[in-house]
Amino acid sequence: MFKLSINGTQHDVDVEEDTPVLWVLRDVLGMTGTKFGCGIAQCGACTVHLDGTPVRSCQLAVGDVGDMAITTIEGIGATPAGAKVQKAWMELQVAQCGYCQSGQVMAAAALLAQTPTPSDADIDAALAGNICRCGTYVRIREGVKHAAALT
Ligand code: FES
Ligand code: FES
Repeated sequence: MFKLSINGTQHDVDVEEDTPVLWVLRDVLGMTGTKFGCGIAQCGACTVHLDGTPVRSCQLAVGDVGDMAITTIEGIGATPAGAKVQKAWMELQVAQCGYCQSGQVMAAAALLAQTPTPSDADIDAALAGNICRCGTYVRIREGVKHAAALT
């Protein structure tokens, strides 16, 4: 049994210690906002925050989480940076099919929490690991800049 802090709520989950957090979120807790893309840390669709740092939940074993706080796309809007990113995403209609977008939003929110006014290079570096098959990269970059300009 593991105790996980997810979006400020404690959850008891009865899984093996090597179960990836992505499986716990989606299959055990029914939090399906975090997506399964590749399963091998290559696409970023499964990005969540661990104590504010973006991580690939498909490669994060539940036994390695400990007391660290998990934030998912369901909870990121409660953070200042996450709220700005979600607002900007809506205003600019960044998403196309949407499949990669929760991971993109999580990466963008982590960037803005650390770097409130990122350069193009900062944005490219922060989002380089998040793949979008629809090719929304230009709108993602504009979305991050728009979010940074929101007060
Ligand atoms: S599903 Fe985790 S990085 Fe692709
Ligand atoms: S919006 Fe479709 S994969 Fe990114």
